[in-house]
Amino acid sequence: LGGNMHLGIDAGGTLIKMAYGPPEGPIGYRSVPIVRLDEAVRWVNERFADAALCLTGGRANLFRERLGRDAGDLVEFEATVSGVKRLLAESGETETSFLLTNVGTGTSIHYIDGGGHYRVGGTGVGGGTMIGLSAMTTGVVDYGELVRRASEGSRDLIDLTVSHIYEGATPPIPGELTASNFGRWLATGGSRRTEDVLASIVGLVGETVATVSVHAAGQCGVKRVFYIGSSFLQNELLRRVVAGYTELRGAKAGFVPHGEYSGALGAWMSTAGK
Ligand SMILES: Nc1ncnc2c1ncn2[C@@H]1O[C@H](COP(=O)(O)OP(=O)(O)OP(=O)(O)O)[C@@H](O)[C@H]1O
Ligand SMILES: [Mg+2]
Repeated sequence: LGGNMHLGIDAGGTLIKMAYGPPEGPIGYRSVPIVRLDEAVRWVNERFADAALCLTGGRANLFRERLGRDAGDLVEFEATVSGVKRLLAESGETETSFLLTNVGTGTSIHYIDGGGHYRVGGTGVGGGTMIGLSAMTTGVVDYGELVRRASEGSRDLIDLTVSHIYEGATPPIPGELTASNFGRWLATGGSRRTEDVLASIVGLVGETVATVSVHAAGQCGVKRVFYIGSSFLQNELLRRVVAGYTELRGAKAGFVPHGEYSGALGAWMSTAGK
């Protein structure tokens, strides 16, 4: 590949995301689990021997050490925000003041207001929580299997909703809101079916992420929340929970196409001069 190649690398807690291409595009994307760091480094050094590199993410320094060559670096939040703005523009989105929730291993929340951006909070409940709780309670460790089986489960014998508590009476808040995640388990004898437990885990993560985001949106005075992060990959169930809960709580949810590559794209933009 020619000397006009640029590569942005976002090395996160779980996945390494890479965005590559010449400044004029097109841009290619690839992700590799951090547990296969050596494979990612080899791929970069073989295919992108002459490319200009820029690193971001919590594991950027680890990646740099293994790489053994020069690479620029960019603060993770800067990379994520510039990448997401480009992705939003490409998808025809015109909103300039919104909340951005990145559901990675953990979850971080940012407020973007025109040119300014601020980290406004987060929660330790995120994609790593899905994987950890899944492995602990059901033994399912593979992400694809987790997502597939969760979507076949029912939360009804595990989670307590507001209408469960109000039993026929008119509840003061929407009955479909969860009153207590996993709160019905003991009372009903619960369900140990792997699919059901996984559905409730995805519910717990999605509702927590959405609730924290809606509160942050209220504080920042915005209605729109865009969600990114690899936790939504092939995970229609998590998207549905997050979108549904965000809207139920009065805000508007959006998902950014290729959003999981925001940080890598921002790093690519920084080296490609975009
Ligand atoms: N192939 C996969 N292997 C493992 N986890 C996956 C995979 N695909 C999606 N995921 C989900 O994506 C999550 C990681 O998301 P993401 O890559 O955005 O985080 P990260 O950048 O590695 O972490 P952080 O930003 O918190 O440092 C995992 O916790 C898991 O729920
Ligand atoms: Mg990340």
